Amino acid sequence: MSESVHEVRHEAEFRLAGVHTAQELEAFHVHFLGKRGKLASLMDQLKTLPAEAKKDFGREVNELKQFLEAVCQSKKEAVGPSLVKTENSFDHSLPGIAPPVGTIHPITSTIAEIASIFERLGFEIVEGPEIETEFHNFTALNIPLDHPSRDSFDTFYTASGHLLRSQTSTVQIRVMQNRKPPLRIIAPGRVYRPDTVDASHSFMFHQIEGLMVDDRTTFSDLKGVLNLFLRELFGPQVKTRFRPHFFPFTEPSVEVDIRWGKGWLEILGAGCVDPSVFEAVGYDVKRVQGFAFGLGVERMAMLRHGIQDIRLFYENDLRFLRQF
Ligand code: PHE
Repeated sequence: MSESVHEVRHEAEFRLAGVHTAQELEAFHVHFLGKRGKLASLMDQLKTLPAEAKKDFGREVNELKQFLEAVCQSKKEAVGPSLVKTENSFDHSLPGIAPPVGTIHPITSTIAEIASIFERLGFEIVEGPEIETEFHNFTALNIPLDHPSRDSFDTFYTASGHLLRSQTSTVQIRVMQNRKPPLRIIAPGRVYRPDTVDASHSFMFHQIEGLMVDDRTTFSDLKGVLNLFLRELFGPQVKTRFRPHFFPFTEPSVEVDIRWGKGWLEILGAGCVDPSVFEAVGYDVKRVQGFAFGLGVERMAMLRHGIQDIRLFYENDLRFLRQF
């Protein structure tokens, strides 16, 4: 064994006795097997030797290398996992890593704000399922099987004959089936339509349904509540217009517009609950009166924030979401 290889091996054996921790092992490894370690410099030496000497020296260096790798491996098992990973090495004085904080989605905040206005008027927030029966989505809402308004409401059906609800009016039915008047509820949630997606349409969007039922709840209550709500949401100066309309489940029915720039903008549908709806849920039509309304959340959020394209709500683009 040439002198220098022998020396290095000797040094390694000597140092090895002092290796007790992962850090010491790391230092040992760097010292001998590192890029500029003892073994690397022996390799450099090898290149400078005459051809006859190369063979023996090369074999010795190789044996040393195997020795060093073997002792590092067995020490590694002896010292256990690196200290860096253990609890003791946690440095309490280092600055923490701030968890990324998101923002509230504009749809969520719009629902929350609308809900809080109605809560102050004594309305309770309820929810219903998104996968519905035909009874709740159509029949109980006075939309018979062959009614033309089904076309724009026919969504995705499941094998069991259920469908994705096309309106939150389904929740009116569910609440009335389970409870007796007086009722004052709002029901926010997703609805689905067979619509082609563009800047103002989506196959899925959000509605908020409202329902108030008592023994004497009239059309003037409907006007009072909705006017109050719209003033609260858009400011006291807002101008509203109640325009006759048709919905199968309300009679009379209206669409409500607000003054927007030089024109009027339709913003919700409403009306007095049709007696056939009360009949469908088993109420005594002579003893109850009520009104209902439904509004599109996306439209409200678009108006309030000046958003031009409904698709922005669903793309999860952080450049959009961080503005709210
Ligand atoms: N469900 C109706 C729609 O989706 C809105 C509405 C709800 C109208 C309640 C009247 C009463 O267009």
